[in-house]
Amino acid sequence: MGNRQRVTLIPGDGIGPEISDAVTKILAATGVEIEWETHEGGEASALAGRGVMPDATIESIARNKISLKGPTTTPTGGGHQSANVTLRKRLDLYANVRPAKSLPGYKTRFDNIDMIIVRENTEDTYAGVEHMVAPNVAQCLKLITWEGSERVARYAFEMARKLKRKRVTCVHKANIHKLSDGLFLRAHEHVAKEFSDLKFDSIIVDNLCMQLVTRPEEFDVLVLPNLYGDIVSDLCAGLVGGLGVAPGANIGATGAVFEAVHGSAPDIAGKGLANPTALLLSAVMMLQHMGELEKAERIEKSLQAVLSEGKNLTRDLKGTAGTLEFADAIIAKMNK
Ligand code: NAI
Repeated sequence: MGNRQRVTLIPGDGIGPEISDAVTKILAATGVEIEWETHEGGEASALAGRGVMPDATIESIARNKISLKGPTTTPTGGGHQSANVTLRKRLDLYANVRPAKSLPGYKTRFDNIDMIIVRENTEDTYAGVEHMVAPNVAQCLKLITWEGSERVARYAFEMARKLKRKRVTCVHKANIHKLSDGLFLRAHEHVAKEFSDLKFDSIIVDNLCMQLVTRPEEFDVLVLPNLYGDIVSDLCAGLVGGLGVAPGANIGATGAVFEAVHGSAPDIAGKGLANPTALLLSAVMMLQHMGELEKAERIEKSLQAVLSEGKNLTRDLKGTAGTLEFADAIIAKMNK
């Protein structure tokens, strides 16, 4: 197959197939050599009795090591397990990566933010060890291991180096959680010694939050344990315009899954109205992961040009363009 990279495409539910079509069309216009292996996953697959994440889908990601995934619907209060939780567990996707970058033309309180948030995705209070020790006393275990901390630290430093970032900041509360967060911090200090080309520092999570809402432009790459990462990554998404334009990636030793942060938007599904920006920016992250930095940059610049121009915006951005019109406007900018 030459230099073609095989990528597992999971269109997903709701608006997933529409935004996936728009994004694959934009990627094709860059000339990147991708061979898509389309697989099912999500509610439609579960309802058809094939499981929320069929083995064939998991095997395809494990084989190709890269997947672009559309949003999947999870029923509340019963029904099938979340497709994302299934993927995270089966592929041990230990790092959740969420860039927060100001988009020109998308007005927010700050216009010069450019951060990447790396959240440890498997440990901390999310290890699922929680019980009642007495009728009115609940206990939840916070689990932090050297191995778990070191691998997410190593990923963050390697990514920072590849993307020519300058600074990696470890976020913790080791003044109070001296053993658990202390271990997380020590693992980062240990890994930092191998990356003398990058500035390394650390910050206590409450101080970080105060600084993020006053001078977010000063931060570069942040690495956090699971719980702080969950909260701070949404805070950072809010700083640049909300979850609707937030891309993300889940990285593991056996595969990387790139997807938008938003859901399947059943209210607008099938109408050709969805904004593909978040999935497109997830695809930009995927191209960076594949080493296709120039093509990633071309897409980003064209997207920014379309947003700044304001002529072909989707309805959520107060425009009147449909999903494909928006995608075609981006392609037109790339071809200029
Ligand atoms: P949602 O993100 O799907 O929708 C919230 C609101 O934002 C809706 O009004 C929707 O129309 C709008 N919206 C979302 N994405 C948009 C886009 N690209 N363009 C224009 N408008 C957009 O959140 P909701 O309604 O809470 O969840 C719907 C389903 O999605 C649920 O089943 C939930 O479990 C699932 N979900 C899946 C995720 C994933 O697969 N990564 C993440 C979050 C939710």
